[in-house]
Amino acid sequence: HIQAVIFDLDGVICDTAHFHFIAWKRLADHLGIAFSETDNEQMKGVDRLNSLEMILKLGGQQRSAAEKQALCDRKNADYQTLIAEMSPADVFPGVQDILATLKVRDISVGVASASKNAPAILQRLGLDRAFAYVADSSLIKNNKPDPEIFLTVAAALEVAPAHCVGIEDAAAGVTAIKAAGMRAIGIGDAEVLHQADMIFPTTDKIDLIRMLS
Ligand code: BG6
Ligand code: MG
Repeated sequence: HIQAVIFDLDGVICDTAHFHFIAWKRLADHLGIAFSETDNEQMKGVDRLNSLEMILKLGGQQRSAAEKQALCDRKNADYQTLIAEMSPADVFPGVQDILATLKVRDISVGVASASKNAPAILQRLGLDRAFAYVADSSLIKNNKPDPEIFLTVAAALEVAPAHCVGIEDAAAGVTAIKAAGMRAIGIGDAEVLHQADMIFPTTDKIDLIRMLS
């Protein structure tokens, strides 16, 4: 039976996936590279530098390591202004109810986000004490779709992967959860997230009975 639920952050707990898109879109505009929301789907769950690499590839452009670092910093500074005003009101509907139910059932909860901004966002959302373990993405060597981050959280929660559920809005994230040997819940578009075991359009539509049984 399920003993732990491991949440992605951006796009599952709050709408920061949209802020990431806005900031990448602005950077792509700055670089003169066409970038759509469809292109962005493939970048969800992907870490900052690899996301930049994907945009540069779309535009057939190349940059030095130092230039890439500067572009990543520019995107992150823009992103941080977009998330600066976030508050507990920005927690997606349904999240608090799910956390309350899991607590009653004694099911552990963790966060597996590729974002280096995750701790700051959780704090702004008032959720910094809501999870037993939050992965430090700077310590993860192999990014999603590799299962490392989900396996790291499961190990920290001391729950075998087979008894874990992962919740993701990103195709790369769903692939990571499945590769970790966990049940995968997809939040969003069924076509994008077809590898998931169950798909719900938004976090508040999660059927907890189905997810946990
Ligand atoms: C993931 C997002 O959660 O974090 C990606 O889905 C983002 O869009 C990645 O690029 C890295 O985030 P950050 O905040 O470290 O740039
Ligand atoms: Mg996400």
